Parts: sequence; structure tokens; C-alpha cells
Amino acid sequence: MEFTDFEDVIKFAIAREEDAIEAYGSMSEKAKSPGLKDLLLELQEEEKNHKRLLKELTSQKIASLKPERALDLKISDYLVEEPAGPEMNFQDLLIFASKKEQRAVELYTRLKNSSDDPDLQKLFDFMAEQEKAHKFKLEVKYEEHVLEED
Ligand SMILES: [Fe+2]
Ligand SMILES: [Fe+2]
Repeated sequence: MEFTDFEDVIKFAIAREEDAIEAYGSMSEKAKSPGLKDLLLELQEEEKNHKRLLKELTSQKIASLKPERALDLKISDYLVEEPAGPEMNFQDLLIFASKKEQRAVELYTRLKNSSDDPDLQKLFDFMAEQEKAHKFKLEVKYEEHVLEED
């Protein structure tokens, strides 16, 4: 994908964040366990913050960002994702959400690598790490509740 200007790339990222907000909304409605529902709503809040950051972007805001390195457990990388449906169980929801976050990490990494503006590189690096942290939280939950039942 090629972006010619800043506005296009930001608009594109905002649309991806809106997708994530919607997806967490519908996943949280399907989640039956209160713990999972809370996690999905917490992640939805963070996607709302991403959207807000992108919409109200200033160079001061970018300067104040502190990217934190997140771990990648890579648990979901080896799991097969079922299409989203009304009957998603705990495990399906976690795999589905983790895969979505993995795609978000890849998107922001690609945007970072294709930008030659240091501010944008910093912004997308920050976002990539945030999405990686989301994937981490989902995979920790998976590890606690799914792997331990085996
Ligand atoms: Fe996000
Ligand atoms: Fe995310």
C-alpha cells in the first residue's frame, strides 16, 4: 500500500481503529464470562484512545508518546481462527481477537517502515507496541484459562 500524504495515512489508521472499536463491542456482547467481557471492554477503551490520538494528532502529542516494548507470546500464531459467529466460545473469542491484534501490529509496523517522517515513525512504532500489548493480554488470558484446562 502506498500513501502519498499524511492525511490519507491517518484517515486509514482511524478507519482501522474504528473497526477495532466495533469488533470489541460485538465480541464483548458475545462473551459470557465476566472476566473476558471486562478484558474486551478494556481493550475497546484503548482502541477508542487510539482513535482519539489519531484524530487530535499534534507534534507535541507525538513528542510525548513513550513507546513501551511489549512481549509477544505467539500463542495464537499457531492456532486456527474460526470465523466470527453468534456462537463463539471463550477460546474462539480469544483466538479471533488475538489474530486481529496481530494484523494491527503488522499494519502499524508496515506504516512505520514505509514512512520517512521521524514523527510518523515514532507514532506508528508506539501504536504497533500498543497493539502488541493487546495481543499479549489476550494470550495471557488464553494461557490462564484454556491451556490450563487441558
Ligand atoms: Fe488500536
Ligand atoms: Fe488493539
